[in-house]
Amino acid sequence: MPSISRKGQSMPESPIRKLVPFAENAKKKGVRVIHLNIGQPDIKTPKVALDAVKNNNLEVLEYSRTEGSDTYREKLAGYYEKQGVHINASEIIVTTGGSEALAFALGTVTDMGDEIIIPEPFYANYNGFATANGVKVVPVVSGIETNFALPPIEAFEKAIGPKTKAILICNPGNPTGYLYSKEEIEQLAALVKKHDLYLIADEVYREFTYEGKKHHSILQEKGLDQHAIVVDSVSKRYSMCGARIGCLISQNKMVIKTAMKFAQARLSPPTFALIASEAALDTPQSYFDDVIEEYVERRDLLLDALKEIEGIKVAKPQGAFYCIAELPIADADDFAQWLLESFQLDGETVMVAPAAGFYATPGLGKNQIRIAYVLEKEQLVKAVNILKEALKVYKKS
Ligand SMILES: Cc1ncc(COP(=O)(O)O)c(C=O)c1O
Repeated sequence: MPSISRKGQSMPESPIRKLVPFAENAKKKGVRVIHLNIGQPDIKTPKVALDAVKNNNLEVLEYSRTEGSDTYREKLAGYYEKQGVHINASEIIVTTGGSEALAFALGTVTDMGDEIIIPEPFYANYNGFATANGVKVVPVVSGIETNFALPPIEAFEKAIGPKTKAILICNPGNPTGYLYSKEEIEQLAALVKKHDLYLIADEVYREFTYEGKKHHSILQEKGLDQHAIVVDSVSKRYSMCGARIGCLISQNKMVIKTAMKFAQARLSPPTFALIASEAALDTPQSYFDDVIEEYVERRDLLLDALKEIEGIKVAKPQGAFYCIAELPIADADDFAQWLLESFQLDGETVMVAPAAGFYATPGLGKNQIRIAYVLEKEQLVKAVNILKEALKVYKKS
């Protein structure tokens, strides 16, 4: 048999999806599985976006422009302007989801054998994109005790070596829910300028900030225009995960010119989804106000319920819709699988994401899980109760 590449063999499995076969089996046995494992919000997509697809009279579903249409990118630049981010359409490349923007960003700034520094725990697919590019992830550990705040800047400085090309952050964080402050972003900005590195910020959760806290984009940092690369997406903002539209933004002309070559190789972003995404920009602020209110209520309810579980530690999220919980167990991978294979409460169980896959340092996060609070409150309460009862049984087993 022809061999599989070493790169392919070393591609990590997604910790979010690898338990899916166990969940499917549980469902076949008639068990209802409550999904806390994946960031698929149950929030309705804005009607303006869906209507734009339903009501258009396209006769040929053509390729779109490689970088996305002018009208969409110009309207998008207007959206950023309202957020206090001054960019123009030529600094945006529309991508097939934030995922493709991440792939383009790494493709553009790294060579095989290069290193990127990422505070951990981090969005697990960064490991996959790094592996696909032959790039080593150098983690800098953040801890549950500080709610996963930015680790001391000295720890980043120590991690910088001759092969370091970029620091990659996710703000607000998946899986941590941590929202980096303006001061934390300023520290990172000063560091990348000092060492002439790129700062890549995954800002796909920028809308989801709580308690009146404001998101501070790296694009708002003065003097960072040659260093800053932002990854964004409509997936979470408008609950449009299936549209597969995101973008890469940079004021560095060489970055855009190079990323465009990667973009040309995949021809164009999906045409119908572009139409939906352009229309979604007309979503009224009241939509976001309602969504944020809903997430705050879910988060508070979830944290209160989790705190009732003995021996649990939870970081309080200030953004996005995830939290990391540390459980009184040794191996969350085993526990998550056991929940699906061997446990049910009144015919129901829960699926969680074991957190080890969100770390690059072996052994870290082994007793942690990531919970996505993307379900209705009543479901969340039920799910936490199942977790609580399951832990009692699991500890004895
Ligand atoms: C932090 C982060 N970045 C990027 C993505 C990719 O999003 P998409 O490709 O749907 O835009 C996700 C999806 O969950 C995410 O959580």
